Amino acid sequence: MKLLLVGGGGREHALAWRIKHEMPDATLLAAPGNPGIAALATCVSTSASDVAGLVRLAQDEQVDAVIVGPEAPLAAGLADACIAQGIPVFGPTAAAAQIETSKAFAKALMREAGVPTARASMHITVETARAAARELGGRVVVKASGLAAGKGVVVAMTLPEADAAITAMLEENIFGDAGAQVLIEEFMTGEELSLFVLTDGETAVPLPAAQDHKRVGDGDTGPNTGGMGAYCPADAGDPAYTWRDGSVPAGITQVMDTIIAPTLRAMHERGMPFRGLLYCGVMLTPTGPRVVEFNCRFGDPETQAVLMALADDAPLLRVMLQIARGERIAPVPVFVPAQAVVTTVLAAAGYPTTPRSGDAIVVPAMPADAWLFHAGTVMRDGALTTSGGRVLAATATGATLTAAQQRSTALAASVQFTGAFFRRDIGWRALARGA
Ligand code: AMP
Ligand code: GLY
Repeated sequence: MKLLLVGGGGREHALAWRIKHEMPDATLLAAPGNPGIAALATCVSTSASDVAGLVRLAQDEQVDAVIVGPEAPLAAGLADACIAQGIPVFGPTAAAAQIETSKAFAKALMREAGVPTARASMHITVETARAAARELGGRVVVKASGLAAGKGVVVAMTLPEADAAITAMLEENIFGDAGAQVLIEEFMTGEELSLFVLTDGETAVPLPAAQDHKRVGDGDTGPNTGGMGAYCPADAGDPAYTWRDGSVPAGITQVMDTIIAPTLRAMHERGMPFRGLLYCGVMLTPTGPRVVEFNCRFGDPETQAVLMALADDAPLLRVMLQIARGERIAPVPVFVPAQAVVTTVLAAAGYPTTPRSGDAIVVPAMPADAWLFHAGTVMRDGALTTSGGRVLAATATGATLTAAQQRSTALAASVQFTGAFFRRDIGWRALARGA
């Protein structure tokens, strides 16, 4: 088995680990990969956005499947190009990826399919957007419709804040084309879960839910980031989402029935079946689970926690390869979390706005059942060096969330580079509840 993994972040490092764990004999290529992935795969310098180059690589190397990590190559049509050449690919077509790349598309789809989500309206002018914010009463969420690297969402507590965000997106074009259309969305209360679903376009199987920590600072303060840490399994304090006896919790079954199934059906009816991993950000509101957002790929950093939480013999790769080959999947087996996992992101000073880079990283001796997944790292003159905002994800398992959290934090603290910072409270809501 020869596989090409596309991407070079912490999510892809965790995927590479899982692939080699499930299939030690597989030959793994990564494009472009990173210094951590290089220990598990042969890294090729082809960029993750070079669709033609990636297809050529897959053909030259005669890979059995391409596994796509990030959204950008999917949005650029990598899956379409692979399918056109008969190369099995895990990841949706560009049309199906719109569920992430166009929030306007996703909202319209959900409305038609009757999927519970925040009420929203779409705007291309400041005047109508402001009027919509007033109609919703001030506390609204302003979202750029297109891809904005996790930064295109402003949760406005007041009308002046909402107005400022509307002006920034529609008039000052701070997100370029991605912000040429904005959504004014009702503010939902509740706790959020990230639910990953493997799907062949019709049948869908959930992975254990995780919880992301998007704000940069402890206690969920400061600006939004791509994610500063995650834990798995997560139940958001609702017993309906707690794993007990090895069967899927009733809350997750409810999400599968009321959100995932109608969404997949609607995609299918539009002639753009979604094959791959559907990421559902779901808010557990007082009136039931509602969609915050969909993504067309594994989440980062949730993947670093979810994959490590799976049992050793969980057939994740086997199901992914079935989907890549266009085969139907079975609604079993159940992916049960076998242990608690916490991943803590080590970020570079200045993240999320202007991260510093070029600093040497000193990595500790690794404890058992812990992993340092690489994200923003490069090898420079033989030394591991920072090269991005999110540098490493310190990931550890435990019999309890408390144990996993302590081990993850300790691991993060033992890594050294100038300006390194990380949250010490990943999982704090669950820990405060006594998980
Ligand atoms: P998104 O990129 O759409 O996931 O939004 C980023 C974050 O903003 C989410 O993780 C939520 O915490 C928050 N958010 C987005 N939409 C809403 C909403 N309608 N109500 C409350 N919070 C939201
Ligand atoms: N951690 C959020 C995301 O991957 O979009």
